[in-house]
Amino acid sequence: MQITTGTSELRDITKMERIGAHSHIRGLGLDDRLEPRENSQGLVGQAKARKAAGMILKMVQEGRIAGRAMLFAGPPSTGKTAIAMGMAQSLGSDVPFTSITASEVFSLSMSKTEALTQAFRRSIGVRIKEESEIIEGEVVEIQIDRSLTGATKTGKLTIKTTDMETIYDLGTKMIDALTKEKVLAGDVIVIDKTSGKITKLGRSFARSRDYDAMGADTKFVQCPEGEIQKRREVVHTVSLHEIDVINSRTQGFLALFAGDTGEIKPELRNQIDTKVAEWREEGKAEIVPGVLFIDEVHMLDIECFSFLNRALEGALAPLVIMASNRGMARIRGTKFRSPHGLPIDLLDRVLIVSTKPYSESEIRQIIQIRCQEEDVTLTPDAINVLTSMTAQTTLRYSLNLISCAQVVARKRKSEEVDVVDLRRAYMYFMDEKRSVEWLKFTQGSLIFEEIEGTKDDIMDTK
Ligand SMILES: Nc1ncnc2c1ncn2[C@@H]1O[C@H](COP(=O)(O)OP(=O)(O)OP(=O)(O)O)[C@@H](O)[C@H]1O
Ligand SMILES: [Mg+2]
Repeated sequence: MQITTGTSELRDITKMERIGAHSHIRGLGLDDRLEPRENSQGLVGQAKARKAAGMILKMVQEGRIAGRAMLFAGPPSTGKTAIAMGMAQSLGSDVPFTSITASEVFSLSMSKTEALTQAFRRSIGVRIKEESEIIEGEVVEIQIDRSLTGATKTGKLTIKTTDMETIYDLGTKMIDALTKEKVLAGDVIVIDKTSGKITKLGRSFARSRDYDAMGADTKFVQCPEGEIQKRREVVHTVSLHEIDVINSRTQGFLALFAGDTGEIKPELRNQIDTKVAEWREEGKAEIVPGVLFIDEVHMLDIECFSFLNRALEGALAPLVIMASNRGMARIRGTKFRSPHGLPIDLLDRVLIVSTKPYSESEIRQIIQIRCQEEDVTLTPDAINVLTSMTAQTTLRYSLNLISCAQVVARKRKSEEVDVVDLRRAYMYFMDEKRSVEWLKFTQGSLIFEEIEGTKDDIMDTK
């Protein structure tokens, strides 16, 4: 069977994730010796956990760690998810990072083990070397002729290197691509002949004088030498899951856009694994073990845990990072209680890193970072109030109040958020403690009352 990797189409589907609550995080904020800086790349404090994360990351990057697992354990809103996001940001762009929340495993239209297998295979990259034919040179002229109706376009592209110059005929697709990339005369570009993908390398030095078409970030490059058409070795990384999907469906890589991948047959996976092993032997491919992050891991059940145990021992296993805010909790699917809601045999394979509640000055810094990120100005008084409010509520509640208070402030036509706005927002939105009090107060009028004796404890912030 022919196994394809979808090459150029796939390179366009990069990670398109928007993480609102953690968008201020740019990395782990460690120096070269892996020592955490107090406040760097959006992360504040939590030094031990960040250092541990950095050490693990280093091992991942060196390809030394696979099939291991670590667990972030700590009270709610102590930065477990935040640190995992920081790890994702500091991995190289071609090291896969997959993030799932344990409950997703149950809500997909497939079996739990299939969902986990897919998550595992998303986190294993295959770095593939391929030869492709490209056109590389400096654009001399682009000439576009539109038909009267504008429906069809034809054109000519003149492109040169220091040694030669060639004119190519352009079709509608190429013209659109050139327009989309805003290619102008004087740009040095690369065109992938099979996919038609255009990459702008920069402006030619020869044109550095005509500064009409430049922004501040314009990059200058030499006009290429030699032949315009050449063969080039390209290296790109796809995940095993992507290879699975492309080969399992007639519509191929389009299924990846739709996200509708369905279950994949084990035979197909075996065939792909064999093929990848072949490529490795021929020196055409390398395995890049990535990271799989499972948030709220106590939501998995005993079947999933036993699957994890097995999967971690497989030949192709990523680094698995888990996070949980539970102390002693029932293992889902059993009657037993266990630390963090994880069975002991899994815990045994896991490196545990704990996160601790923040000090007041750390909270203040985190609040300030979030204000910057959300583009909200707080008066110094408001920052003080919000910081002390955090001690009574939680960090996450306070961070949520920032944008609510801004809406309140805008209503009284103020650009700055002051203490009054915070107060008002605090009245509108309850935190967990007040909500519990209110529940007690309204006892009996809400449906679903308590169940005796099965309470799991969330790790305490105090
Ligand atoms: N050290 C930190 N530096 C900067 N921001 C942080 C830090 N720790 C937490 N935050 C921010 O505080 C908020 C809550 O943190 P986070 O979501 O990581 O908590 P968590 O430990 O995953 O909690 P839970 O157990 O409830 O999932 C997030 O917006 C996060 O980005
Ligand atoms: Mg979390």
